[in-house]
Order: sequence, then structure tokens, then C-alpha cells
Amino acid sequence: MVKRVKTAVFPVAGLGTRFLPATKAMPKEMLTVVDRPLIQYAVDEAREAGITHFVFVTGRNKGVIEDHFDRQFELETTLEQRGKQAALAELQQDLPSAGRTSFTRQQEPLGLGHAVWCAREIVGDEPFALLLPDMLFKARRGVLKQMMETYEETGGNVLAVEQVPQQDVSSYGVVGRGAGDDSGFRISGMVEKPKPEEAPSNLIISGRYILQPEIFNLLADQPRGAGGEIQLTDAMQTLMQSQPFVGVQYEGQSFDCGSKIGFLTANVAYALDREDIGDDFLAALSRIGLHNALIDGFRIAAE
Ligand code: G1P
Repeated sequence: MVKRVKTAVFPVAGLGTRFLPATKAMPKEMLTVVDRPLIQYAVDEAREAGITHFVFVTGRNKGVIEDHFDRQFELETTLEQRGKQAALAELQQDLPSAGRTSFTRQQEPLGLGHAVWCAREIVGDEPFALLLPDMLFKARRGVLKQMMETYEETGGNVLAVEQVPQQDVSSYGVVGRGAGDDSGFRISGMVEKPKPEEAPSNLIISGRYILQPEIFNLLADQPRGAGGEIQLTDAMQTLMQSQPFVGVQYEGQSFDCGSKIGFLTANVAYALDREDIGDDFLAALSRIGLHNALIDGFRIAAE
């Protein structure tokens, strides 16, 4: 039997320079897709997968994330008095249980590998999930849940992967594909931000991981890699020598909300899908001249 994954780590220390000036005083993880902050989607996905402990690796200016996952009595009382029960229920439902969140700081921006390493004392000697909140997934079954199902059969380390156009691989970590099918194949190698012509495939690491705790010791000594940063992918490449890595080509659609285009597209897709505002939003888009057929096509693609 494999060891159950109960803890998830959320690296939220990034500066968000691509969204300035919006992110000058506000964490990029609090940017909203419709009316929910990006970090809330990642936490929801983790809960759906059975995660019970939520670890945030934060940095300066990120205090509001901690506030977001706390109760707000003044607001709750006001909603109660005004009879806004649905809004109140949603707020309460979004909240992890008391004592189930932990916060630590990445004191210097040394890269994703370093951010993950900063969570080592809180995670301890247990497998853990890692969710990069920039990546948002629209999927019938959450992507981490899909990965957990594979993990229960394979154990080891599991990464969500997806195909992108070859010219885009240099923005991501890229894996080589070995034996197995989409729901679980052996990863034969990986490289962070390769040149398109040097990439082992066009399968990128999609920002969802299940990792064994041995990664922490490797991260402790990991030299800087691509972009001068301590790269998680480099440490995983070393761990591959002693532990299996399994790729899951998940079912669903991803939005890279670390880019403006991905973020805006996510907002359109999620808004069109909402029962309360979808139709009105579609009508509003038509009024500003967006062709209905184009929107319909987009809606179908998003399903
Ligand atoms: C990070 C990882 C990369 C992964 C990507 C997914 O890169 O290092 O392997 O493919 O997230 O979003 P970053 O976006 O921090 O440059």
C-alpha cells in the first residue's frame, strides 16, 4: 500500500512582475478568475483530491493570502444581518478547517526548487502534493484527483503533463515519455526550459506534482540551473535515478494564468460557464462585436 498524500504545498512567493501594476501591492495569487482568487481554485482542487493540510510558501506582501484563509467575523455578521445566506455559506465552505493551514516564508527569490525546500520542516518525512496556483485547470475531475488515482496504483512520484506546440516548450519543464498510457506512463527524463530543438518531447510539466520527501535533501544541495534559479526539475531529474516518476496526461483544459493571455482566456471560459452570469456575459460580448459563432465554438472547446 502506498503512503497516503495528506499535505499540499502552494508556492506563492513569486513577484508577479508580468501583472504590474496590478501586483505591486497585491499578490498575483489573489487575481480573480470571475470572482474567485487563483489561490482558491488551487486549494479547492487539493481538497477535492483528499488533501487535509495546506502549506503556503509566502513572501513579503503576501499577508493577504493568510487573511483570505481566515474567518472574517465583521463580514460574516454583516452578511448574516442582511440575509445573504448563500454568500455566507460559500465563504464558510471555501475555508480549510481550523489548524489545517501552515505558512512559511521564502526569504529570497531563488527559484521554485528553493521555495519547495522552504516547506521541508512543515511537510516532514511524508509524500506531498505541490500545486502551482498560476496553472488553472478546468476539468470534470480535478487534475490532482486524477493524479492521486494513478499514484494509488504506482506510488513514487507523479507529474501532470500536457502537450503544447513545440515552439512553446522553452517556457516550461519538459519530460520524455516512456512506456505506459495517458493515465500513467514512465517518465524517461526531464529538462527545465529547453530550447525547442533540444526538448525530449512537447510534453510539459503542468504545475501539479506528487513528490516523495527525498526531494528535500536533493534540493538542499541543488546548484542553480535555468535562469540562474534553483530548479525543482533538476532535483527531480536526480531523484529519477533512485525512484520512479510517472506522467499523467490529464483530462481537462489548462490556463496558464502566469501569462496575460492565459489569465484573460480563463476569465472568459469560466464566466461563460457560470450558471448565474454565463448567458448575460455572452450577450454582453456580442454587443461589443464578438461574433456569436466564435463564442459558441469557444464554449464547446472549453467543455
Ligand atoms: C515552473 C516549473 C516548470 C513548469 C511550470 C508550469 O516554471 O519550473 O517546470 O513547467 O512551472 O507552470 P515557472 O512557471 O515558474 O517558470
